[in-house]
Formats: sequence, structure tokens, C-alpha cells
Amino acid sequence: MNILIIGGTGGIGLAIIQQLLIIKPHANIHATFFRHQPQYQHSQLHWHHLDISLENQIAALAKQLPQLDVVINAVGMLHTAKHQPEKSIQQFDVAFFQTNIQINTLPSLLIAKHFMTPLKTSPRSYFITISAKVGSIEDNKLGGWISYRSSKAALNMAIKTISIEWQTKLPHCCVIAFHPGTTASALSEPFQRNVAPHKLFTPTYTAQCLLHLLAILTPQETGQFLSYNGNILPW
Ligand SMILES: NC(=O)c1ccc[n+]([C@@H]2O[C@H](COP(=O)([O-])OP(=O)(O)OC[C@H]3O[C@@H](n4cnc5c(N)ncnc54)[C@H](OP(=O)(O)O)[C@@H]3O)[C@@H](O)[C@H]2O)c1
Repeated sequence: MNILIIGGTGGIGLAIIQQLLIIKPHANIHATFFRHQPQYQHSQLHWHHLDISLENQIAALAKQLPQLDVVINAVGMLHTAKHQPEKSIQQFDVAFFQTNIQINTLPSLLIAKHFMTPLKTSPRSYFITISAKVGSIEDNKLGGWISYRSSKAALNMAIKTISIEWQTKLPHCCVIAFHPGTTASALSEPFQRNVAPHKLFTPTYTAQCLLHLLAILTPQETGQFLSYNGNILPW
């Protein structure tokens, strides 16, 4: 089994790798890093440097990995050194919005474009992208975080659209948008104070939830937005 984790140095991405090495001891795991040199090493883990905002780098990686059973995109951003997510439209900044789209939306489109062929060679494959419930338009009761919400809503539309196309082109592939719940990581760090302790998940718990879903989902369940507990979320 060949598995690719994009964003393997992130809180959730690294936990997925570590759990996979336990539950799939014979799998070949490929993972990508960007700014953080990976510290975690294992004989079945192969690291690749990747800037997910550059299509030529994604295309080159896909050529190196001609057969994959699972691709998980765990890349994402919520804040930068200069910008926190907006509380008001008055804080809206074009460059920050574009960065959200570049890191949260475009990568899954480009990954699907270039990894369609590697995923086609597997008798049953999975393309999972980590989204966020705040990207659900129907679920939006609070407002705020307009760039992050918009980038994840656009991501969700992309995932749904890809899943429909692949029902005929890759009928054995299950395409899912996954909501991890609030998980302790660098991304959520500035917002953890207001989260009840039992609602702040460890990356290990979140990874176990995702991998549990991976074990039970079939291609017939493609095109869903699923929460960590398996609940179907409204797009
Ligand atoms: N944590 C939460 O509470 C939470 C809640 C809802 C949804 N999510 C979603 O879950 C996903 C994972 O989040 P996380 O909490 O694990 O975040 P994180 O710890 O901040 O990890 C982010 C990952 O994205 C990678 N990355 C950022 N820019 C990149 C680029 N240009 N090219 C390649 N890789 C890049 C980082 O690589 P380097 O570190 O090597 O640069 C890192 O591996 C995100 O999509 C996030 O929106 C998280």
C-alpha cells in the first residue's frame, strides 16, 4: 500500500503519519514538508520537500509516485505572522485573503489534477482533504474569519465537484472533505484558550478518527463532508 500525506510536518499531518505506521506497518508512506525540516524518521517513511503553492513542484512529485492508494492533504493556514483571522469586514486585507486561497483552496485542486493518474492505478483509493466546519455555508451562525471561511467553502465546492467527476473517471476512489474538530496545533494555538478542554483534541485523537473513517468508507460514500465523529456535515 502506498500512501501520501501532504503537510506531514503539521500537527495533524504528523499524527496521521505516526498512526499509519502503527496500523499499516507494511505500507510505504510518503510525506511532504515545507518550512519545517522533519524531525520524525522511520524506515517506511519517505520525506519530500514541497511548496504546495507551486504547480510544477506538485506535478514533479506526482511523476515520482506513479501508484498511490491514499492521498491526504493536511496543509492549511488560519493566521500569519502579520494577520489574525478577521473579526470584521473592516479588517479584510486582499493579500491575506489571497494567501488563504493559495494555501487552503488551490492545493487540493492541483493535487487532484496531478495525482488523478497515480490514484487511478489502485483498485480502491482515497483522496481526503482536511477542510473545516467553518467552511460550511449552512452551518455559519457566527460570522467572522471571512478569508478562512471563504477559502474552506471554495475548497468544499472543489472537493464536491471533483468527487462527481471521479464517479465516472475513478469509480473506485472515495473523495472526502474531513473536519478534524479543534485540534491542538500551531494553527489553532492562538484560539485554544476559549475551547473547553474536552473539545480540544490531541492530534493523535484526530488522526485516529480520520483513519477510522478511512477504514470503513467505500467508494459509494464519495463526495461527503464528514466530521471527525463520522457525522455528515452540510456543505
Ligand atoms: N487544528 C485545528 O483546530 C483545525 C481545525 C479545523 C481544520 N483544520 C485544518 O486541518 C489542516 C491541518 O491543520 P494543522 O492544525 O495540522 O496545522 P499546522 O500544524 O499549522 O500544519 C500546517 C501544515 O501545512 C504545511 N504548509 C503550510 N504552507 C505550505 C506550503 N506553502 N507548502 C507546503 N506545505 C505547507 C506546513 O508545512 P511546514 O510546517 O513544513 O511549513 C504544515 O505541515 C488544515 O487544513 C486546517 O485548516 C485544523
